[in-house]
Amino acid sequence: MNAAAAMIRTEQLTKRFGDMTALNQVEIAIPERATTVIMGGSGSGKTTLLRLISGLEPPSSGAIYFEGADLARISRRELYRLRMKMGMVFQYSALLNSLTVEENIAFPLQEHTALDARVIRTMVTMKLEQVGLRGFEHLMPSELSGGMAKRVAFARALAMDPKVVFFDEPTSGLDPISAGVITDLIRNLTQLTHMTSIVVTHDVHAGLAIADHVILLWQGEVIAAGTPESVRNSDDARIVQFIEGRPDGPIPFSRSDTSYMDDLLAREVIA
Ligand SMILES: Nc1ncnc2c1ncn2[C@@H]1O[C@H](COP(=O)(O)OP(=O)(O)OP(=O)(O)O)[C@@H](O)[C@H]1O
Ligand SMILES: [Mg+2]
Repeated sequence: MNAAAAMIRTEQLTKRFGDMTALNQVEIAIPERATTVIMGGSGSGKTTLLRLISGLEPPSSGAIYFEGADLARISRRELYRLRMKMGMVFQYSALLNSLTVEENIAFPLQEHTALDARVIRTMVTMKLEQVGLRGFEHLMPSELSGGMAKRVAFARALAMDPKVVFFDEPTSGLDPISAGVITDLIRNLTQLTHMTSIVVTHDVHAGLAIADHVILLWQGEVIAAGTPESVRNSDDARIVQFIEGRPDGPIPFSRSDTSYMDDLLAREVIA
């Protein structure tokens, strides 16, 4: 890919948690106005990479360029301004349970804009229309199916008309039909609104189906980057094992420790 067309680029990006290296010298380039899918097994560093390139967390070392500015070196104020251009759909939908669907989507607009309530209501209706949930304004999150909750989280991420939307496991926990609805929605909205989508998933099938650009992580390192075809046709044993989903091969089975997730979620329900 032409580096000049990259919306986000990293250089020697490294993230450590204590002795543990979650990302090691990662160099990626994410094209503008396209869907990039970051894949890899559990604990390979996908969520960590997403949190770093969206400016939620600082790197241990290395650089993250967002439209040319290094997120690790700019002021908090500048970072805040850039983050206005980003929408987030977290691994667990992270809707505010005490607010209706409408109030959840209106929340970022109320926080970050001076628009009056009537305009905000119109914008919420438009966003719900985009995700196919018009008419569901007054439901509570507890009344939504998993797929609907993901779509509300998607609508909330779109509220500020972001240039780039980050999705962490948008189809996890969904039945195949609901998962298909979500992946179609990501693909269609990315094309229609010319936004840039960055999707983290361990669902190889869904990932390869929606990607324009694929990044494959293994133990905190990039082992493949390119078009879905180039990844599919790779003869690297690790890549073949991941694509075919075989338990035997160079990639050992391990479960990552996700106990820190609750804490993270509690701190940043809406970033
Ligand atoms: N805040 C944290 N504190 C301590 N360790 C962490 C933290 N975040 C991630 N890690 C560790 O870094 C490694 C990569 O984690 P990460 O959540 O990025 O993986 P992942 O690819 O998203 O996995 P999954 O598919 O299970 O979501 C794991 O070993 C994880 O335990
Ligand atoms: Mg993850």
